[in-house]
Amino acid sequence: MIEKAGELPVVLAPSILAGRNSNLEESVRIIEESGLTWVHLDIMDGNFVPNITFGPQAVQDLRETTDLFFDTHLMLEHPHRYIEVFAKAGANLISIHVEPACPIKETLTQIREFGCQNGIAINPKTPPEELLPFLDKVDLVLVMTVQPGFGGQVFREESAKKINVIDAWRRERNLNFRIEVDGGINLDTARLCRAQGSDTFVAGTAFFRSENRNLFRKEIESL
Ligand code: DX5
Ligand code: ZN
Repeated sequence: MIEKAGELPVVLAPSILAGRNSNLEESVRIIEESGLTWVHLDIMDGNFVPNITFGPQAVQDLRETTDLFFDTHLMLEHPHRYIEVFAKAGANLISIHVEPACPIKETLTQIREFGCQNGIAINPKTPPEELLPFLDKVDLVLVMTVQPGFGGQVFREESAKKINVIDAWRRERNLNFRIEVDGGINLDTARLCRAQGSDTFVAGTAFFRSENRNLFRKEIESL
């Protein structure tokens, strides 16, 4: 990993949503074989987003097979009801969205109380100002660069500005949360996001469809 002074090392977190969903363990092996340490777990409830993925039991079963860092992205209308179960299933980091009408501050606190890192995620159409009350209370800000729900969508160029604004707030306030981007991330869009201040890159399609995953990893890590 390339580490510049005062900056967080770049992390690539492949989303197993883009692998074979009938064999999530296989996707975990592929990630390990590529020399990576994070896996991004997309949890969807068919309510906050119009799609349904896997749940805590799958996370727990995967936990028994790997030491990868579980970067768990909850796309749930009622995330606060599921923190304990995902923490106990083996999540290392749990991100909740800023949009649902739920007790966000309390839920972020609860995530840490269960021994996990916490993150706050934001949809493309939500103004970045909605993050302001939470910036000093999180380990990661997850900037959605597509409308969540499905892999394989096209990166929304307007996201770049939002990353820049959040990075400026991070510097001004001397905070050190990660800025993760998620959706339509490939080498080109990752480069664009990196230039605006992001350090953590989720890639589903670009990683799993890559002909040379080791090379893709190295290219992202040297951005
Ligand atoms: C979208 C998910 C993403 C997505 C990334 O709702 O949060 O993690 O699966 O997939 P790609 O990289 O294919 O856009
Ligand atoms: Zn995600």
